Amino acid sequence: MKCFHYFKDRSKSREQRSAPIFKYQSKSDISAYENERVTKSSSSANSVRGDTNKSSGSTTSPRSVTELYEEKAQYLRVFSFSELARATNNFDRLLKVGEGGFGSVYKGKIKPVGGKGDCSVVAIKKLSTGGFQGHKQWVAEVQFLGVVDHPNLVKLVGYCAVDGERGIQRLLVYEFMKNKSLEDHLFNRAYPALSWERRLQVMLGAAQGLAYLHEELEVQVIFRDFKASNVLLDEDFKPKLSDFGLAREGPTGEDTHVSTAVMGTNGYAAPDYIETGHLTAKSDVWSFGVVLFEVLTGRRSLERYRPGSEQKLLNWVKQYPANSRKFGMIMDPRLENQYSLSAAKLVAKLADSCLVKNAKNRPKMSEVVETLKQIIHVSVEVTSPDRSFEPIEDDPIEEKPTKQIGASESVKRRMAHLAKLSEHVDGVGRRKFMIMQRQVT
Ligand SMILES: Nc1ncnc2c1ncn2[C@@H]1O[C@H](COP(=O)(O)OP(=O)(O)OP(=O)(O)O)[C@@H](O)[C@H]1O
Ligand SMILES: [Mg+2]
Repeated sequence: MKCFHYFKDRSKSREQRSAPIFKYQSKSDISAYENERVTKSSSSANSVRGDTNKSSGSTTSPRSVTELYEEKAQYLRVFSFSELARATNNFDRLLKVGEGGFGSVYKGKIKPVGGKGDCSVVAIKKLSTGGFQGHKQWVAEVQFLGVVDHPNLVKLVGYCAVDGERGIQRLLVYEFMKNKSLEDHLFNRAYPALSWERRLQVMLGAAQGLAYLHEELEVQVIFRDFKASNVLLDEDFKPKLSDFGLAREGPTGEDTHVSTAVMGTNGYAAPDYIETGHLTAKSDVWSFGVVLFEVLTGRRSLERYRPGSEQKLLNWVKQYPANSRKFGMIMDPRLENQYSLSAAKLVAKLADSCLVKNAKNRPKMSEVVETLKQIIHVSVEVTSPDRSFEPIEDDPIEEKPTKQIGASESVKRRMAHLAKLSEHVDGVGRRKFMIMQRQVT
């Protein structure tokens, strides 16, 4: 699914007005270039927040990502274009592992610094479209990934930036993620289906990555493009978020949001952000809720080939609330009933809470992490549905018999507690879908 950019025309004219000639090779050059743009223009492209103006209210601010980048990104390698061409057998299409809006991704082998020792396997992303927007995303990716450090965020090994006679070349070199993306495993039949346990663990890891970005850094980072294809999976299926091209610094001081041109991916962006351009960390929480439903159902947020009422995932799932006996009908058939229905309902409740209309009422990502941990606990102990342990069930009609019967008192208590936590989302759960219906086209 491709990224969208609302107000396309406006951005184009900005690009035409101000696109500079890019001439740099090192990371300090990147920062110098960005700083220059900040001082030259306070209202247009600046730093990684190229389309961002802070909302009014604050004069003090912590260090910017650009400043942090200067301090932290020393380990990034700067590659020459010929080095990366060699690493990929001249960008051999047999080595191509994927393609997105930015360009193609190749598997490659690079020599260690100094040339001695074993080669390491990397993923090399090559910008295919020229222009300011592509370059800006490339800069954002280098800067953010140069600053962050978390087991659930993909590692950037280095980059290449060349402005030659034949145009500009922008490449990114990442650690190689052997198991592709969550998107591949959820929606592509060529890949084995992810087990229920793995799905929960992947979402927990992804939530931890987002919580780190939102709550654990000196500067808050809003990811802005959370979706299944940006959750990569390593050899152990450990998830790592990738694609920081649209990431932005969050608001500082008294500010409640940053104002940006609306960018993201259809079907994942929060309706309040689409309507107002006001970006907050809660926009990521919405996207996380969408992916939770994708993980439950094995359906994409938008599937145009389906009958009308089923095309928009959020509209479809609202017909099968977690409290109803129909709920099980939305579950991914590829799970072959190998999941805990109780836990699945709690996941749906959690997703509902991420998808409430009022962004302020969505949970923080650290709260999502905690809830997911508890759900995983419940799921481990109750591996298949059992009506007698369904505290959120409001419909007494019998569900399918279960394979495993019985659960400990502690599980019952935990589930009752979780059910309570989820209660408050019920009232607002319905309205959100009407909003989404209008927004997602
Ligand atoms: N570090 C990596 N290791 C292994 N494969 C990768 C890596 N990064 C990306 N890929 C593969 O390349 C595919 C394309 O990734 P890319 O981020 O360019 O686009 P996308 O996320 O699918 O779409 P969009 O451009 O809309 O974000 C991914 O789905 C994944 O399969
Ligand atoms: Mg991606």
